[in-house]
Parts: sequence; structure tokens; C-alpha cells
Amino acid sequence: MKHLLSVADLSVDELDELHRLTDAFVEVSERPIPKVPALRGRTVVSLFYEDSTRTRLSFETAAKRLSADTMTFTIGSSSVKKGESVRDTVETIEAMGVHAIVVRHGSAGVPWQVARWSQACVINGGDGWHEHPTQALLDSYTIRQHLGTLEGKRIAIVGDIKHSRVARSDVLAFTKLGADVTLVAPPTLLPPSLEGWPVQVSHDIDAVLPKVDVCYLLRMQRERMTEALLPTMREYTALYGLTRRRAELLAPEALIMHPGPMNRGIEIAGDVAELPNAVIVDQVRNGVAVRMAVLFLLLGAGSELVTEGAS
Ligand code: CP
Repeated sequence: MKHLLSVADLSVDELDELHRLTDAFVEVSERPIPKVPALRGRTVVSLFYEDSTRTRLSFETAAKRLSADTMTFTIGSSSVKKGESVRDTVETIEAMGVHAIVVRHGSAGVPWQVARWSQACVINGGDGWHEHPTQALLDSYTIRQHLGTLEGKRIAIVGDIKHSRVARSDVLAFTKLGADVTLVAPPTLLPPSLEGWPVQVSHDIDAVLPKVDVCYLLRMQRERMTEALLPTMREYTALYGLTRRRAELLAPEALIMHPGPMNRGIEIAGDVAELPNAVIVDQVRNGVAVRMAVLFLLLGAGSELVTEGAS
């Protein structure tokens, strides 16, 4: 594997391999000094054209725990402000000598363009409404960690599916790993066509919740809603929000998940995010180990060191 651009490119064996590597890096992350020399001499750059807390910081943490050097690019303090194109920016960074580029951009497809312009490994850190593969890796890893497997598990993905790259990547990963996925959303927040999506659809969250093993809530992406897709956010919460009353419809062991950042009080009640079966903090924690696994697999150095270190 040279790049990680889409979950669609990953076989079940590759997903399993990444999860096995993640197990090793969870163990590394729990050590008093959570660092291995696996990627010494390698440089990883974060090329983020969109805001991020979790993805950018966890990739940077992952790179540092693998002893790679890191470079961070933020558009606010870069020559993009002077009109520099993505291609010129990539070629400039490339000239400094980088081995991996983690790219997030508001337009779908930009990571594929970066992969054409660069010799480095390219990782999609989220492209427009399209894909967010490492989110799907950490989400599927977190489900496996808590439920043992995704095979046969029933997962509801609730909310703004239309604008969600997380939903697209999660549907691909969850169904490849054998889960049964139901999308729960008002018709206006579903994509215009779901042809080819291996999912069921429901508009009745109260009917779905008692049957699922995982309730995965999506953020209401108000910044991407250029048209009036909902009468009001209050109405959305009344019909689809995971309120305390609705959370009681879930089986006691069913997981509550959210990719973050959360709109507390809209798609998820503040106190529901604190319930014992809400694993949102675990998702973030696992995000570092998953991204260590991705960097390690792509940059391909030192597998013996990790095996030794993790034993
Ligand atoms: N889940 C996620 O991608 O979060 P950030 O936007 O903070 O990276």
C-alpha cells in the first residue's frame, strides 16, 4: 500500500492488519515513555486546508511516538494567503524532503491530486463530503475493542449523512467487516441517491434504537448546509437527537459513538455523551494508535522494532 486515500481501496485483510498493528500501538501508547524508534529519519507533514483538532493532533502525536520528524502547515500562516496553489504548495513541501503528507481539504478528490504531484505517501485526512478513512479505521477498531467483532452487529448511523465524509467511510468499513448498517436521517439529510450503498434507511429513530448494538451520531454540519434542509435545529433535536429519553431505548451494552466535534444539545444531549456506554473518548484515544499503524504501514520501516517493543 503506497497511499491511504479511501476505505474502498482496503481489503478486509488490510483492515485486519491495520487493526492488529493498532493493538501493538495501543500497548506502546500505554507505556511510561510511549515512543518507539520505528520511523526515525522520516518526515511527516500535516497539510490541513480545513480546521481540525482530533485528526491533525493525533497524526502529529502518532508521528512523534514513532520518532518521525513533523511539519505542520496551516493556511492562516502560509503563502496560500498570497495566492499559492495547492500544487505549488505540495511541490514546495516536497522539495524540503518529506516521506508522508496527511492532507485535509474542503474539496473532494484533492488527496488523489496530491498523490499525483508528490513522491511521498499521501493519507487522506478528510476530503470534502467524500471520505475520512482514518476515522473509519478508528471507529471500527473501537467497536471491535468493545464488542469483539463487527460481524453481524447492527449499527445505526444517525444524522447529517448527506454532508458526512465520516458516514461514507464508516459505511464502507463497517459493512466490509460484516456489520448491518442502517442510516437514520430526515430525507433532506440523505444523499440524493443511495444506489450502491449496502445499507437500510429509516426515518424513525425510536424504532431503530432498541435493535442496535451501536448508535453512531453524526455532527450537524451547519457550515456545509447552504440551503434550508431543516426547519430548525430544535426540530431536528426533537425528531432525531439522542436525548436522555431516547438513550434509554438502547440496550444497556449498546455503544454510543460520535466522531467529534459534538454539538451537545443538538445531535446528542450533554449528559448522554457522559454515559458509561458512550465511547467517544475511546475513539479519540484509539485515533492516535490507529494513525501510528497507518504511518508505520505506509512508511514501512522497523516492523521488527515494534514487534520487539510490543512484546
Ligand atoms: N473527527 C474529526 O475528524 O475531528 P477533527 O475535525 O477535529 O479532526
